[in-house]
Amino acid sequence: MASSNTKALSEHRGDAMLKAEFKGIGIFLFWISGIINVLALTGSFYMLQIYDRALTSGSVQTLVALSMLAIGLYLSQGVFDIIRSQILVRIGGRLDRILAPIAHRVSVDMPRFGFSTSEALERGRDVDTLRGFMGSQGPMALFDLPWVPIYILFVYLLHPVLGAVTLGGAIVLTLLTVLTELRSRKLSSTAQQANVLRNNIADSNARNADILKAMGFAGRAVARFTAANQEHVQLQTKASDIIGTFSALSRVLRMLLQSALLGIGAYLTIKGQMSAGSIIAVSVASSRALAPIDLAIGNWKGVVAARQAFKRLRETMVALGGVSGPLDLPAPKHSVKVEKITVSAPATGRVLLSEVSFELKAGQALGIIGPSGGGKTTLIRALTGIWPTLRGGVRLDDADLNQWDEDVIGQYVGYLPQEVALLDGSVIENISRLDPQRDGKAIVAAAMAAGIHEMIVRLPEGYDTQLGPMGTALSAGQRQRVGLARALYKDPFLVIMDEPNAFLDAEGEQALNVAISRIRARGGIAIVVAHRPNVLAEVDLVAVIQNGKLTAFGPKDQVIATHRPTIVPNPVNTPAPAAATAARTEYRTIQNGSATA
Ligand SMILES: Nc1ncnc2c1ncn2[C@@H]1O[C@H](COP(=O)(O)OP(=O)(O)O)[C@@H](O)[C@H]1O
Ligand SMILES: [Mg+2]
Repeated sequence: MASSNTKALSEHRGDAMLKAEFKGIGIFLFWISGIINVLALTGSFYMLQIYDRALTSGSVQTLVALSMLAIGLYLSQGVFDIIRSQILVRIGGRLDRILAPIAHRVSVDMPRFGFSTSEALERGRDVDTLRGFMGSQGPMALFDLPWVPIYILFVYLLHPVLGAVTLGGAIVLTLLTVLTELRSRKLSSTAQQANVLRNNIADSNARNADILKAMGFAGRAVARFTAANQEHVQLQTKASDIIGTFSALSRVLRMLLQSALLGIGAYLTIKGQMSAGSIIAVSVASSRALAPIDLAIGNWKGVVAARQAFKRLRETMVALGGVSGPLDLPAPKHSVKVEKITVSAPATGRVLLSEVSFELKAGQALGIIGPSGGGKTTLIRALTGIWPTLRGGVRLDDADLNQWDEDVIGQYVGYLPQEVALLDGSVIENISRLDPQRDGKAIVAAAMAAGIHEMIVRLPEGYDTQLGPMGTALSAGQRQRVGLARALYKDPFLVIMDEPNAFLDAEGEQALNVAISRIRARGGIAIVVAHRPNVLAEVDLVAVIQNGKLTAFGPKDQVIATHRPTIVPNPVNTPAPAAATAARTEYRTIQNGSATA
């Protein structure tokens, strides 16, 4: 099941692969640019030869021969130019093919670590930016830049003074490029951040459309977006102003320089230090020398955008690129061990759960209870590897979760999140977890186990019904049951359910209990977080999580007897009896170290 695709992806993570992939092509492009630039001297040489040889000797034959030669050289320059631009466009495409899946995978990973959706989707746009840049004039300028000295040398050989002036001009223009970079770098990245902020607001407004309508504050939401949008546009305008100004400055400077070279050349010719042909040759060569610098300044916005996109992609890839297990581990059959795990929220770093340990064996089911905000979902996130543990680890048959290939371990784990979101797709795609080989039997079996088979076949298109974005075509309870079917698909060894009965009716709860007892009967392990005690009917073990600690763990009857208050269904309606106070004192005793683990 460890598709070679996934393997390739994990190997490609990080930037080593980018370097290896493109080093060879980079070197090739460098040399081909060298050839193009040497060939581009053709014009200058031609002028030189015509004025200083053909004209002075008056030989038409020489003129024709020179012209033929020049035409040949021009044509070959054109061919190399075409090759180079085609290579660049293909590199863009290739970068896209390699980066797009990785970038999307990173985008998929990011929300788990507290990044916003729009920030995550930014990585996909980064790939577009890079591909677009590769097809633009920008990279040509960058590859031509190292060859500028050829032209300066050529001019220098015609006359040292003109060489010095050209060199001076090139230096000033380069300084202008550096200045553009320094002045615009910070602005561009601030504008980028403002862009993310603006998209976050747009995103959250769209997701809260119902609330905005029902309580009539869409106007204020739009105003908040507009403010963020203006901020972004202002920063962008400033950055464009700077780049535009420097670009105009450099153009003027270049024209000045060109005329200066002509003037000085004329002076030198009058003084008999140079031939007339040299003036034109210098003019052609110097304009060619400064063109890439000019082009670089003109395309600087693209260069900056591409570089930032590449940097962001690299950083996130390195940061999120986990080590995947290279081995195909055998399917887990025996146990789940939680060893002293401490978990913090990746976004804030705040420790939410500390030093939790317990062990479950095949055939057991654990109910996790405890007050809201106590850390139950956090424990589930660590158990499923959604969040990494700060210390300690979770082991399936003694192998740490980190040792498994993500896509391999997925088939042994069923997970029903607290807030069920479904994929934009059909019932089949959702239950089968996008399995391309839709196993009809397993899908129907999972639906039956979740008690939704009848409901599904009554849908307009049965199992092929499209559920819409986030599964909005279904009610919350129906979504939760489809989520349950997805968790039970193909009988995974470990099934983890976070408050699975939140939206369930009595019939749904019945299906859930049957599912738990079936998991136990087939030698699996079930872990279920429960707010209401109804779902604890089929579990044999109970754990209490409160204030980020495991305060009790043991056989159901025993734990429940001492922890009645935490599992009272609706504490608001229940007057606290004297017994509850006594039980609360008991918690404290347990919290102070006597938790059985
Ligand atoms: N994504 C998150 N980032 C930061 N803190 C979080 C996040 N999710 C939950 N928390 C915090 O962790 C604590 C435990 O939350 P949770 O595990 O969801 O509780 P429970 O599931 O027991 O109701 C809460 O104080 C909550 O504010
Ligand atoms: Mg929770």
